[in-house]
Amino acid sequence: MREVIATVLENIRIAEEVYSLTFAAEEIPVRAGQFCMIGVGAPLRRPFALCKAEGERYTVCYRVKGAGTRALAAVRPKDEISVLMPLGNGFVLQPHEKTVAVVGGGVGVFPLIAAIRAFCGEREVYSFMGFRNRAAVCMQYEMQRSKELVIATDDGSAGYRGTAVQAFMENVGRIRPDAVLACGPLPMLKALKTAVGGRFPVYASLEERMGCGIGACLVCVCNTADGGHARVCKDGPVFDLSKISL
Ligand SMILES: Cc1cc2nc3c(=O)[nH]c(=O)nc-3n(C[C@H](O)[C@H](O)[C@H](O)COP(=O)(O)OP(=O)(O)OC[C@H]3O[C@@H](n4cnc5c(N)ncnc54)[C@H](O)[C@@H]3O)c2cc1C
Ligand code: FES
Repeated sequence: MREVIATVLENIRIAEEVYSLTFAAEEIPVRAGQFCMIGVGAPLRRPFALCKAEGERYTVCYRVKGAGTRALAAVRPKDEISVLMPLGNGFVLQPHEKTVAVVGGGVGVFPLIAAIRAFCGEREVYSFMGFRNRAAVCMQYEMQRSKELVIATDDGSAGYRGTAVQAFMENVGRIRPDAVLACGPLPMLKALKTAVGGRFPVYASLEERMGCGIGACLVCVCNTADGGHARVCKDGPVFDLSKISL
């Protein structure tokens, strides 16, 4: 992990309240599912998945929620931002996990973009991506690398009407995945864990609030299934859901 002073190349709106920020920094190897902590204005840095890392160009996508992301939406090309990266473990698949389902909802689709980019060449990837409505749908061109892509919206204004988990479960018997990669709000992950029922592993990236991002402050601690604790920033953010108590 390093702290870099990055130069903003682009910060554009790509959907309702959602922006794509590309910055330049020294080339550092990044695994899909790893994240960065960006400091802009707010007292603490904020965590964002590294969606794309191409040489010295990195992209994060974010929804404006509060002070930190509002400040981020105001940065302009040529501004400098302080970034800690890469952080966390990222998605790791076992060699036999050749057929993979990707299930994401809300801002949880962003770390999964990196997973689709990383695994599409070497595995069969079926993606199920959930959004609130048509205006929230973004990054479709990246998701289309998948062997199959289902866009789901809560109100049916684009694609399948319902959640990404419902869309996935309607197709699971046909796809027969060896593993699932997931990210999304807690209710989504709970529904996914219950629906899968331990038939195959679900590797999920958790979205806990964070303080330091490097394992020191314990703000991000979650409960493990064996009664212990894990730091989402350092031990995760990706966990085998069977080992976590949601
Ligand atoms: C590993 C990781 C990767 C992430 N990747 C992305 C990403 O790629 N794109 C993206 O848009 N967001 C991502 N997030 C969530 C993002 O970090 C928060 O939305 C952001 O920190 C909010 O900051 P803020 O200052 O704008 O909002 P705040 O003022 O801090 O909070 C505004 C509202 O958002 C809620 N909130 C804040 N942080 C979180 C969180 N981590 N999880 C759930 N609710 C939260 C607060 O409870 C509050 O209701 C990620 C989080 C983690 C832990
Ligand atoms: S955010 Fe500080 S320990 Fe995880």
